[in-house]
Amino acid sequence: MPVTETGRATIYFDPELHRPLRRKTVETSRFVPGRVNKDAGEALAGDAENIAAFGKRRAESLIRYNEMVKRLKDDLTRVYEKNDSNVTTPSLQYDEMIHIGKDFSSREVVEAYDARHRRFRDIEGENEAIIAGVGLQKNHIIADFGSGTGTFVIQAAQKCEKVYAVDISPAMLEYTEWKARNLGLANIVCCHGGFLTYVHSDRPLDAVSTSMALHHLPDFWKQKALTRLQEMLKPNGKFFLADVVFTEENYESSIQAWINKLASEMGKEMAEDISRHIRCEHSTFSWIMEGLLQRAGFRIDLAEYTDGVLARYFCTKAA
Ligand SMILES: C[S@@+](CC[C@H](N)C(=O)[O-])C[C@H]1O[C@@H](n2cnc3c(N)ncnc32)[C@H](O)[C@@H]1O
Repeated sequence: MPVTETGRATIYFDPELHRPLRRKTVETSRFVPGRVNKDAGEALAGDAENIAAFGKRRAESLIRYNEMVKRLKDDLTRVYEKNDSNVTTPSLQYDEMIHIGKDFSSREVVEAYDARHRRFRDIEGENEAIIAGVGLQKNHIIADFGSGTGTFVIQAAQKCEKVYAVDISPAMLEYTEWKARNLGLANIVCCHGGFLTYVHSDRPLDAVSTSMALHHLPDFWKQKALTRLQEMLKPNGKFFLADVVFTEENYESSIQAWINKLASEMGKEMAEDISRHIRCEHSTFSWIMEGLLQRAGFRIDLAEYTDGVLARYFCTKAA
């Protein structure tokens, strides 16, 4: 593209994108602007299609919002019925596709989540601990449920054969795919599904992980989910779970102390997120979580509780 036709902008990249981007520019002899133009062009092609579709459908009659939500839900149920003959009766199955608490269905929310969690969590450190704890090896195939913005799957994919990233949010999965593409990682398989609907059809998994996601299900459905995950693992396969879990002693003051701490470190919005979590999501007690894990057929090798509100479990599929 001739220089006279270009516009100009300054872009600050995340370090985890900048390093491989620089490497790629050297490998492909293509300057950074060339690559960014190409990738941005591809990403925006979808917007151009949407705008064109908007113009074509301008004459169509409007429908009410409730009717639109109902049609979308019906479509979703149909897709799952069609793709997956193993899904249990939709009329009895908990609908895990509906976001409870925070709604992760837009790119803005996804990017804000990624940036905010990097500020108060040592995400790389957390991931390294999981990778070491499950004994990840080069020939392993693993799955991460509620994979979110893909930070764990991206780190793990560099150390094993294949990683399945499973999430109910298409926006989260698109963001993960975009990051993986930019890093040149071709061994991440993004799957739109969840604890209750994902069907594993590859060889049994060497390890399964899930961080800050199981609390989206009520306890009855957590049991069902954990049993399904256990069945996807090979004999002696490893399972890692991290989530908001309350220890019984002084749980009300522990929750309040947690909200106060995050409010002072991260501001009001974060405190509101945590308050909404407590009000609307399904975090449970440690004695319930340990019971659910054992009943699902896991041996708990390590249970670790922090500040009465956070838990990590390293488990093995019991023989
Ligand atoms: C709080 S985020 C955690 C993301 C990431 N694991 C982390 O540690 O930052 C929760 C994620 O779980 C996903 N999720 C919610 N319900 C789910 C379900 N039933 N099955 C799988 N993923 C689910 C959400 O879309 C979201 O991406």
